[in-house]
Amino acid sequence: ATDDRIPRISSSIRVIPDFPKPGIMFQDITTLLLDPAAFKDTIDLFVERYKDKKIDVVAGIEARGFIFGPPIALAIGAKFVPMRKPKKLPGEVISEEYSLEYGTDKIEMHVGAVQPGERAVIVDDLIATGGTLTAAIRLLERVGVDVVECACVIELPELKGRDRLGDKSLFVLVSSA
Ligand code: PRP
Repeated sequence: ATDDRIPRISSSIRVIPDFPKPGIMFQDITTLLLDPAAFKDTIDLFVERYKDKKIDVVAGIEARGFIFGPPIALAIGAKFVPMRKPKKLPGEVISEEYSLEYGTDKIEMHVGAVQPGERAVIVDDLIATGGTLTAAIRLLERVGVDVVECACVIELPELKGRDRLGDKSLFVLVSSA
């Protein structure tokens, strides 16, 4: 049975057609943030899932993983590690490239932010093609971190991002047609 908090979360997400490009149905989580009960339920569902799983690291993907990740990290007693777009982090970084529809993009993490053997959950608002999460997994695994699961508020199942993650576990609250 689905948790009875899910419908409110789902209906608090606004869909904006043709943003940022024609044909894209943009899943806008800013309206979820305007509903404190829905925002709290969102965080609580993740916290309930991870609180007893010995998670050391919540890794949040820029930009909206920076909204959902930190409250989860605080509640479960994990550190929060930002995974950023290129040239934003001031210290020494390691980076991982991933392919987009046209060209490539990159995410970066500070050297020393995580340690080999630590257990991590990667948090973002949404999985589309899965390219971003795949790069985040590779980045953390390259430094010996155990990526326990990826957690997103929304999945776009038509884009089959879940398949791209292979046997890596993916937890989502809302699936969007
Ligand atoms: C969106 C979303 C994810 C990513 C998912 O970010 O927040 O991070 O795309 O797409 P993928 O599964 O196909 O990789 P966006 O590119 O809009 O960047 P932003 O959060 O910095 O605006």
